[in-house]
Amino acid sequence: MRKDFLPFSPPFIGEEEISEVVDSLQSLWITTGPKTKRFEKEFGAYVDAPAALALSSCTAALHTALVAADIGPGDEVITTSMTFTATVAVIEHVGATPVLVDIEADTMNINPLLVADAVTASTKAVIAVHYAGHPCDMDALQAICDKHEILLIEDAAHSLPAKYKGRMIGSGKNPTAFSFYATKNLTTAEGGMLTGDPQMIERAAVISLHGMNRDA
Ligand SMILES: Cc1ncc(COP(=O)(O)O)c(C=O)c1O
Repeated sequence: MRKDFLPFSPPFIGEEEISEVVDSLQSLWITTGPKTKRFEKEFGAYVDAPAALALSSCTAALHTALVAADIGPGDEVITTSMTFTATVAVIEHVGATPVLVDIEADTMNINPLLVADAVTASTKAVIAVHYAGHPCDMDALQAICDKHEILLIEDAAHSLPAKYKGRMIGSGKNPTAFSFYATKNLTTAEGGMLTGDPQMIERAAVISLHGMNRDA
């Protein structure tokens, strides 16, 4: 009989991680600082991202991506009915209307044919979730979004690492949100990363810092 039955994804924490945390505490720099910058650089290089911004969660990354795109009341955002609540909650956080469409039975990812049917004059974005690490049909989704001039946001909470046609998820210009929650492949306990177009990331950085463009 196991001592702990179904533990909640215990993380693999070794001496290296423990000494980094101790080092941060002893440096007296305990908030976003040089180690976060290093993480952004190394993470960005790993997924081949044009630019990367560390945030407090994947939820914050998705929310920031919507704010950076000026999406708000009166706008519709199409997303999948098969996801964690955060993907839909962020649409409501900005006052926009979530439009849920069904999935493909084999991949459990958003069905591009249904996305095409759901587009209206109010649609401003699609949030595609690469469910359980399986990339969405990005060629089909991108074609729909390009045709209607809609932003394609990628929820990559489950997708570190994942590749679509040889390219890392996170390597493109679309805003792409990763999660480092306790149960994820790479964890920081709580945390997230937004990758994408450098200009969008620059704006997202200002939004994430209360509208300021210079930190302490
Ligand atoms: C698909 C999906 N999107 C977003 C999130 C939110 O991630 P976070 O807890 O980092 O905000 C999760 C969390 O599990 C998720 O599974």
